[in-house]
Amino acid sequence: MVGFASLLHQENLDAETRNLYIDIIESSSRQLLNLVNDIIDVSRIEAGELKINKTPFELHKILKETETLFEQLKHARGKQNLKIKLNLPENKQELYIVTDPDRLKQILVNLIGNALKFTEKGGIDFGYGIEDDQLRFYVSDTGIGMTEDDLRLVFERFKRSEQAHRKYEGTGLGLDITKGLLDLLGGSISVESQVGRGSVFTFRIPYVPAKSQEAIHNNEQAIGVERLRGKKILIAEDEKVNRMYLEIILKELPVEIFWAQNGQEALEIF
Ligand SMILES: Nc1ncnc2c1ncn2[C@@H]1O[C@H](COP(=O)(O)OP(=O)(O)OP(=O)(O)O)[C@@H](O)[C@H]1O
Ligand SMILES: [Mg+2]
Repeated sequence: MVGFASLLHQENLDAETRNLYIDIIESSSRQLLNLVNDIIDVSRIEAGELKINKTPFELHKILKETETLFEQLKHARGKQNLKIKLNLPENKQELYIVTDPDRLKQILVNLIGNALKFTEKGGIDFGYGIEDDQLRFYVSDTGIGMTEDDLRLVFERFKRSEQAHRKYEGTGLGLDITKGLLDLLGGSISVESQVGRGSVFTFRIPYVPAKSQEAIHNNEQAIGVERLRGKKILIAEDEKVNRMYLEIILKELPVEIFWAQNGQEALEIF
Protein backbone atom coordinates (compact mmCIF):
# COMPACT_ATOMS: atom_id res chain seq x y z
CA MET A 1 0.00 0.00 0.00
CA VAL A 2 2.70 2.43 1.06
CA GLY A 3 4.81 1.25 -1.88
CA PHE A 4 2.05 1.88 -4.41
CA ALA A 5 1.28 5.27 -2.87
CA SER A 6 4.94 6.25 -3.43
CA LEU A 7 4.80 4.94 -6.98
CA LEU A 8 1.94 7.38 -7.65
CA HIS A 9 4.42 10.24 -7.30
CA GLN A 10 6.19 9.13 -10.44
CA GLU A 11 5.82 11.46 -13.36
CA ASN A 12 4.75 10.17 -16.79
CA LEU A 13 2.40 7.55 -15.34
CA ASP A 14 -0.27 6.72 -17.89
CA ALA A 15 -3.86 6.89 -16.67
CA GLU A 16 -4.32 3.13 -16.75
CA THR A 17 -1.33 2.43 -14.51
CA ARG A 18 -2.33 5.23 -12.16
CA ASN A 19 -5.84 3.79 -11.81
CA LEU A 20 -4.40 0.34 -11.21
CA TYR A 21 -2.25 1.68 -8.35
CA ILE A 22 -5.23 3.54 -6.90
CA ASP A 23 -7.35 0.36 -7.06
CA ILE A 24 -4.63 -1.59 -5.29
CA ILE A 25 -4.31 1.04 -2.56
CA GLU A 26 -8.08 1.19 -2.15
CA SER A 27 -8.58 -2.54 -1.86
CA SER A 28 -5.59 -3.03 0.47
CA SER A 29 -6.78 -0.20 2.70
CA ARG A 30 -10.21 -1.75 2.85
CA GLN A 31 -8.72 -5.10 3.86
CA LEU A 32 -6.63 -3.45 6.50
CA LEU A 33 -9.63 -1.54 7.82
CA ASN A 34 -11.68 -4.77 7.98
CA LEU A 35 -8.88 -6.44 9.86
CA VAL A 36 -8.60 -3.57 12.33
CA ASN A 37 -12.38 -3.57 12.87
CA ASP A 38 -12.33 -7.34 13.41
CA ILE A 39 -9.53 -7.05 15.94
CA ILE A 40 -11.42 -4.31 17.77
CA ASP A 41 -14.55 -6.48 17.83
CA VAL A 42 -12.62 -9.47 19.16
CA SER A 43 -11.08 -7.33 21.92
CA ARG A 44 -14.42 -5.77 22.84
CA ILE A 45 -16.16 -9.13 23.01
CA GLU A 46 -13.35 -10.51 25.12
CA ALA A 47 -13.39 -7.53 27.49
CA GLY A 48 -17.19 -7.72 27.79
CA GLU A 49 -17.34 -4.21 26.34
CA LEU A 50 -19.37 -4.90 23.22
CA LYS A 51 -22.77 -3.25 23.61
CA ILE A 52 -25.90 -4.97 22.43
CA ASN A 53 -28.81 -2.66 21.52
CA LYS A 54 -31.99 -4.65 21.33
CA THR A 55 -34.73 -2.75 19.52
CA PRO A 56 -37.89 -3.67 17.62
CA PHE A 57 -37.57 -3.82 13.83
CA GLU A 58 -38.86 -5.59 10.74
CA LEU A 59 -36.73 -8.65 9.94
CA HIS A 60 -37.48 -9.00 6.21
CA LYS A 61 -36.20 -5.48 5.58
CA ILE A 62 -32.77 -6.42 6.93
CA LEU A 63 -32.70 -9.70 5.04
CA LYS A 64 -33.58 -7.95 1.78
CA GLU A 65 -30.94 -5.29 2.38
CA THR A 66 -28.40 -8.04 2.89
CA GLU A 67 -29.49 -9.76 -0.33
CA THR A 68 -29.07 -6.50 -2.26
CA LEU A 69 -25.67 -5.91 -0.71
CA PHE A 70 -24.42 -9.33 -1.82
CA GLU A 71 -25.96 -9.02 -5.29
CA GLN A 72 -23.68 -6.00 -5.70
CA LEU A 73 -20.70 -7.59 -3.98
CA LYS A 74 -20.76 -10.70 -6.15
CA HIS A 75 -20.31 -8.51 -9.23
CA ALA A 76 -17.50 -6.60 -7.55
CA ARG A 77 -15.84 -9.95 -6.79
CA GLY A 78 -16.21 -11.14 -10.37
CA LYS A 79 -18.64 -13.89 -9.33
CA GLN A 80 -21.67 -12.79 -11.34
CA ASN A 81 -22.40 -16.44 -12.22
CA LEU A 82 -23.28 -17.27 -8.62
CA LYS A 83 -26.97 -17.30 -7.71
CA ILE A 84 -27.77 -15.62 -4.41
CA LYS A 85 -31.22 -16.40 -3.11
CA LEU A 86 -33.11 -15.20 -0.07
CA ASN A 87 -35.91 -17.56 0.96
CA LEU A 88 -38.67 -15.93 2.96
CA PRO A 89 -41.56 -17.96 4.42
CA GLU A 90 -44.39 -17.88 1.89
CA ASN A 91 -47.09 -17.15 4.43
CA LYS A 92 -45.30 -14.12 5.91
CA GLN A 93 -45.01 -10.66 4.39
CA GLU A 94 -43.13 -9.22 7.31
CA LEU A 95 -41.99 -10.13 10.80
CA TYR A 96 -41.51 -7.69 13.66
CA ILE A 97 -38.98 -8.84 16.19
CA VAL A 98 -36.78 -7.54 19.01
CA THR A 99 -33.03 -8.11 18.91
CA ASP A 100 -29.97 -6.07 17.91
CA PRO A 101 -30.47 -5.46 14.17
CA ASP A 102 -26.90 -4.27 13.56
CA ARG A 103 -25.37 -7.32 15.19
CA LEU A 104 -27.79 -9.64 13.40
CA LYS A 105 -26.75 -8.06 10.12
CA GLN A 106 -23.08 -8.38 11.04
CA ILE A 107 -23.59 -12.12 11.64
CA LEU A 108 -25.35 -12.55 8.30
CA VAL A 109 -22.71 -10.52 6.48
CA ASN A 110 -19.92 -12.64 7.99
CA LEU A 111 -21.58 -15.92 7.02
CA ILE A 112 -22.71 -14.88 3.54
CA GLY A 113 -19.34 -13.18 3.02
CA ASN A 114 -17.63 -16.51 3.72
CA ALA A 115 -20.07 -18.35 1.46
CA LEU A 116 -19.32 -15.89 -1.36
CA LYS A 117 -15.58 -16.12 -0.82
CA PHE A 118 -15.42 -19.93 -0.73
CA THR A 119 -17.84 -20.62 -3.60
CA GLU A 120 -16.85 -20.55 -7.27
CA LYS A 121 -19.91 -22.08 -8.90
CA GLY A 122 -23.51 -22.76 -7.97
CA GLY A 123 -24.88 -20.43 -5.40
CA ILE A 124 -25.81 -19.28 -1.96
CA ASP A 125 -29.18 -19.69 -0.26
CA PHE A 126 -30.18 -18.04 2.95
CA GLY A 127 -33.31 -17.62 4.98
CA TYR A 128 -35.01 -18.22 8.29
CA GLY A 129 -37.83 -20.06 9.98
CA ILE A 130 -39.60 -19.84 13.32
CA GLU A 131 -39.16 -22.83 15.62
CA ASP A 132 -41.15 -22.43 18.83
CA ASP A 133 -39.46 -19.64 20.73
CA GLN A 134 -36.45 -19.43 18.42
CA LEU A 135 -35.59 -17.99 15.04
CA ARG A 136 -33.48 -20.38 13.02
CA PHE A 137 -31.41 -18.84 10.23
CA TYR A 138 -29.34 -20.67 7.66
CA VAL A 139 -26.72 -19.80 5.04
CA SER A 140 -26.05 -22.58 2.56
CA ASP A 141 -23.47 -22.65 -0.23
CA THR A 142 -22.14 -24.97 -2.93
CA GLY A 143 -18.52 -24.03 -2.33
CA ILE A 144 -15.29 -25.78 -1.36
CA GLY A 145 -16.68 -27.28 1.84
CA MET A 146 -14.65 -28.55 4.78
CA THR A 147 -13.21 -31.81 6.10
CA GLU A 148 -14.20 -33.36 9.43
CA ASP A 149 -10.98 -32.00 10.91
CA ASP A 150 -11.66 -28.50 9.60
CA LEU A 151 -15.17 -28.60 11.04
CA ARG A 152 -13.86 -29.16 14.54
CA LEU A 153 -11.86 -25.93 14.38
CA VAL A 154 -13.93 -23.51 12.28
CA PHE A 155 -15.16 -21.39 15.19
CA GLU A 156 -11.71 -21.04 16.70
CA ARG A 157 -9.75 -17.85 16.34
CA PHE A 158 -7.21 -17.76 13.47
CA LYS A 159 -8.04 -21.33 12.41
CA ARG A 160 -8.45 -21.69 8.66
CA SER A 161 -8.69 -24.81 6.52
CA GLU A 162 -5.71 -25.89 4.42
CA GLN A 163 -7.66 -25.04 1.26
CA ALA A 164 -8.74 -21.64 2.54
CA HIS A 165 -5.19 -20.87 3.54
CA ARG A 166 -3.82 -21.81 0.13
CA LYS A 167 -6.28 -20.01 -2.10
CA TYR A 168 -8.26 -17.36 -0.21
CA GLU A 169 -7.58 -14.22 1.76
CA GLY A 170 -8.58 -13.94 5.39
CA THR A 171 -7.40 -14.00 8.97
CA GLY A 172 -9.72 -16.49 10.62
CA LEU A 173 -11.49 -13.95 12.83
CA GLY A 174 -14.93 -13.79 11.18
CA LEU A 175 -16.44 -16.92 12.71
CA ASP A 176 -14.88 -16.27 16.11
CA ILE A 177 -16.64 -12.88 16.15
CA THR A 178 -19.86 -14.39 14.80
CA LYS A 179 -19.91 -16.91 17.61
CA GLY A 180 -19.13 -14.22 20.18
CA LEU A 181 -21.99 -12.05 18.88
CA LEU A 182 -24.39 -14.98 19.02
CA ASP A 183 -23.41 -15.70 22.61
CA LEU A 184 -24.24 -12.08 23.43
CA LEU A 185 -27.61 -12.35 21.66
CA GLY A 186 -28.42 -15.56 23.57
CA GLY A 187 -28.05 -17.67 20.44
CA SER A 188 -25.96 -20.52 19.05
CA ILE A 189 -24.41 -21.65 15.76
CA SER A 190 -23.55 -24.93 14.05
CA VAL A 191 -22.28 -26.09 10.67
CA GLU A 192 -22.51 -29.08 8.35
CA SER A 193 -20.26 -29.47 5.36
CA GLN A 194 -18.84 -31.82 2.76
CA VAL A 195 -15.60 -31.23 0.90
CA GLY A 196 -16.23 -30.12 -2.66
CA ARG A 197 -19.99 -29.97 -2.18
CA GLY A 198 -20.67 -27.08 0.13
CA SER A 199 -21.52 -25.95 3.63
CA VAL A 200 -24.59 -25.03 5.64
CA PHE A 201 -24.26 -22.73 8.64
CA THR A 202 -27.27 -22.63 10.97
CA PHE A 203 -27.73 -20.19 13.80
CA ARG A 204 -30.49 -19.60 16.30
CA ILE A 205 -31.52 -16.62 18.37
CA PRO A 206 -34.45 -16.19 20.78
CA TYR A 207 -37.67 -15.21 18.99
CA VAL A 208 -39.06 -12.11 20.68
CA PRO A 209 -42.04 -10.72 18.73
CA ALA A 210 -42.44 -6.93 18.61
CA LYS A 211 -45.53 -4.83 18.12
CA SER A 212 -45.49 -3.49 14.57
CA GLN A 213 -46.07 0.14 15.67
CA GLU A 214 -42.96 0.11 17.79
CA ALA A 215 -40.86 -1.06 14.87
CA ILE A 216 -42.40 1.37 12.39
CA HIS A 217 -41.66 4.22 14.74
CA ASN A 218 -38.12 2.93 14.98
CA ASN A 219 -37.66 2.73 11.22
CA GLU A 220 -38.85 6.29 10.81
CA GLN A 221 -35.91 7.49 12.80
CA ALA A 222 -33.58 6.55 9.97
CA ILE A 223 -31.78 9.66 8.83
CA GLY A 224 -32.09 10.70 5.20
CA VAL A 225 -30.22 13.65 3.72
CA GLU A 226 -33.41 15.76 3.64
CA ARG A 227 -33.98 15.18 7.33
CA LEU A 228 -30.65 16.89 7.93
CA ARG A 229 -31.63 20.13 6.20
CA GLY A 230 -30.96 23.20 8.31
CA LYS A 231 -29.37 21.18 11.13
CA LYS A 232 -26.14 22.17 12.83
CA ILE A 233 -23.31 19.67 13.10
CA LEU A 234 -20.45 20.05 15.55
CA ILE A 235 -17.30 18.09 14.76
CA ALA A 236 -14.44 17.80 17.21
CA GLU A 237 -11.43 16.49 15.32
CA ASP A 238 -7.78 17.32 15.72
CA GLU A 239 -6.42 15.00 13.04
CA LYS A 240 -5.80 17.17 9.97
CA VAL A 241 -6.36 14.39 7.43
CA ASN A 242 -9.65 13.33 9.03
CA ARG A 243 -10.81 16.94 9.01
CA MET A 244 -9.96 17.27 5.36
CA TYR A 245 -11.84 14.07 4.51
CA LEU A 246 -14.91 15.10 6.51
CA GLU A 247 -14.88 18.52 4.85
CA ILE A 248 -14.94 16.92 1.42
CA ILE A 249 -17.70 14.40 2.11
CA LEU A 250 -19.90 16.80 4.11
CA LYS A 251 -19.62 19.64 1.60
CA GLU A 252 -22.77 18.63 -0.28
CA LEU A 253 -25.01 18.27 2.77
CA PRO A 254 -27.61 20.95 3.56
CA VAL A 255 -26.22 21.54 7.05
CA GLU A 256 -24.17 24.09 8.97
CA ILE A 257 -20.89 22.70 10.25
CA PHE A 258 -18.92 23.87 13.29
CA TRP A 259 -15.36 22.73 13.81
CA ALA A 260 -13.55 22.22 17.08
CA GLN A 261 -10.06 20.93 17.76
CA ASN A 262 -11.10 18.89 20.78
CA GLY A 263 -13.85 18.20 23.30
CA GLN A 264 -13.02 21.28 25.36
CA GLU A 265 -13.32 23.60 22.37
CA ALA A 266 -16.52 21.83 21.30
CA LEU A 267 -18.08 22.60 24.69
CA GLU A 268 -17.05 26.25 24.40
CA ILE A 269 -18.65 26.61 20.96
CA PHE A 270 -22.01 25.26 22.14
N1 LIG B 1 -18.74 -21.16 3.68
C1 LIG B 1 -17.56 -21.76 3.89
N2 LIG B 1 -17.10 -22.72 3.05
C2 LIG B 1 -15.92 -23.33 3.26
N3 LIG B 1 -15.11 -23.07 4.30
C3 LIG B 1 -15.52 -22.13 5.19
C4 LIG B 1 -16.75 -21.43 5.03
N4 LIG B 1 -16.89 -20.57 6.06
C5 LIG B 1 -15.79 -20.72 6.82
N5 LIG B 1 -14.96 -21.65 6.30
C6 LIG B 1 -13.67 -22.12 6.87
O1 LIG B 1 -13.57 -21.63 8.20
C7 LIG B 1 -12.43 -20.80 8.32
C8 LIG B 1 -12.72 -19.71 9.34
O2 LIG B 1 -13.68 -18.78 8.83
P1 LIG B 1 -13.55 -17.25 9.23
O3 LIG B 1 -14.67 -16.50 8.64
O4 LIG B 1 -13.37 -17.20 10.71
O5 LIG B 1 -12.15 -16.85 8.59
P2 LIG B 1 -11.78 -16.29 7.14
O6 LIG B 1 -13.01 -16.01 6.34
O7 LIG B 1 -10.79 -17.22 6.57
O8 LIG B 1 -11.06 -14.93 7.50
P3 LIG B 1 -11.77 -13.57 7.99
O9 LIG B 1 -13.21 -13.87 8.28
O10 LIG B 1 -11.01 -13.19 9.21
O11 LIG B 1 -11.60 -12.64 6.86
C9 LIG B 1 -12.15 -20.32 6.92
O12 LIG B 1 -10.82 -19.93 6.74
C10 LIG B 1 -12.48 -21.56 6.11
O13 LIG B 1 -11.44 -22.48 6.19
MG1 LIG C 1 -14.64 -14.88 7.16
